[in-house]
Amino acid sequence: MPGDPSREETVKRMIRVDHAGEYGAVRIYAGQKAVLRDGEIASLIGDMAAKEAEHLARFDKIVGDRDVRPTALMPLWHVAGFALGAATALMGEKAAMACTAAVEEVIDEHYASQSARLGQDEAELRATIEEFRADEATHREEALRAGAEDAPGYEILSTAIKTGSRLAIWLSTRI
Ligand SMILES: [Fe+2]
Ligand SMILES: [Fe+2]
Repeated sequence: MPGDPSREETVKRMIRVDHAGEYGAVRIYAGQKAVLRDGEIASLIGDMAAKEAEHLARFDKIVGDRDVRPTALMPLWHVAGFALGAATALMGEKAAMACTAAVEEVIDEHYASQSARLGQDEAELRATIEEFRADEATHREEALRAGAEDAPGYEILSTAIKTGSRLAIWLSTRI
């Protein structure tokens, strides 16, 4: 279709949004860590944060190697990610876990859909996405096991965060 992005531009958009997503994840966990400093949940969050830092470093490199323009919304994700993490952590450990479960569910779906759209010519990128997708699914499971669904107002909180995450993905793909 006229106006449709080229194949190359489509892949660049995928890298742009993934880079933004991993950056947002790093900031969410940073916000949670700033509030929750001790205990089992804090150490679980620390482990998840370390994994997100690895993911971000890998996408930083891909962005550089493939000359992808990062989203112009990075300063927004810097603030919004941290705010989301800190706000949910202030609501309690279970709400922090509900935030993680919601975000990771959306990222899992997002990576699954990207992986399905990537061809053999992008086998390396697809393998990276599949690897990260497995990590995000693990984070979601750990958050659920840690009592995410027992957070007060879980359904509303979870729906709001998933909606926000999908909007962030939509925006970061385009801007
Ligand atoms: Fe990640
Ligand atoms: Fe994750």
